Amino acid sequence: MQVRVLGSGAGGGFPQWNCACASCEGLRRGRLSAQPRSQSSIALSDDGERWLLVNASPDVREQINRTPALWPRRAPRHTPIGAVLLVDAQIDHVTGLLSLREGPRLHLYCTEPVAADLRQGFPLLKMLEHYCGVTHHPVTADGNPFAVAAVPGLTLRALAVPGKAPPYSPHRHDPHPGDNVALVAEDRRGARLFYAPGLGGITSALIQEMTAADCLLVDGTFWTNDEMAQRGCGNNDAASMGHLPQSGPGGMIERLSGLHKPRKILIHINNTNPILDDDGAERRQLAEAGIELAYDGMEIAL
Ligand code: MLT
Ligand code: MN
Ligand code: ZN
Repeated sequence: MQVRVLGSGAGGGFPQWNCACASCEGLRRGRLSAQPRSQSSIALSDDGERWLLVNASPDVREQINRTPALWPRRAPRHTPIGAVLLVDAQIDHVTGLLSLREGPRLHLYCTEPVAADLRQGFPLLKMLEHYCGVTHHPVTADGNPFAVAAVPGLTLRALAVPGKAPPYSPHRHDPHPGDNVALVAEDRRGARLFYAPGLGGITSALIQEMTAADCLLVDGTFWTNDEMAQRGCGNNDAASMGHLPQSGPGGMIERLSGLHKPRKILIHINNTNPILDDDGAERRQLAEAGIELAYDGMEIAL
């Protein structure tokens, strides 16, 4: 299986357009040793020919343009992206669907609650009917295997994870199983990826799945629960946004420490997170725990 990290940042990316926090300013002004990050998305393939786009970020046009594997192969028009799968209906994971409107009919794999949000709160599916059109392939969040025709060598499973529907959702404060899922992708040789850019908590069922994976790409949004407020960037905290912070008791570092098989990589890293500083103490702590940071353009072969 081939994995391309198209975007490793959270909503807003890094630097965020209106953010003058120490990290965003440091990156802009060249004072911080750090990588810019576009918004969260990956692409998966079993043969390198046809690709499944997992989440469609507002940065998808740029992401495709800097990823030769995703360039058109034939004139006049073509795309190796055969389908799109969504792990939730958050703005940073779905807005890129609008940028794909010039292409062929979209084959969209997502749960019913996600599709409902994209018909009601943010009616992208209705709007896209006037452009490329969308075929929704419903995905259940119960861990049952399903196939995506575009990537026949991969078996996929979606698992409900603790999290939140987007702020615009009519059921933001009434969580439905399937608002947020983790994706497990396995190839014919049994290589297995666990991808969960939004993970509000880790249940024992999820730990079992993570233990059996070869590679984890998991929620790297926040270091601490109140990091946004601490940096003067609003009052949202990690818990209310459906993200498990890395540090502290019960945090991601501690939860990952018991897992020995998988390669451990954080993705969907918010611009307020101190792990973005290549030279920071938090980054050293991650390295000591054997945890990597995803970066835009990262290629993972499983
Ligand atoms: C989230 O995952 O909570 C988002 O990045 C928030 C957003 O896109 O505004
Ligand atoms: Mn997000
Ligand atoms: Zn910032």
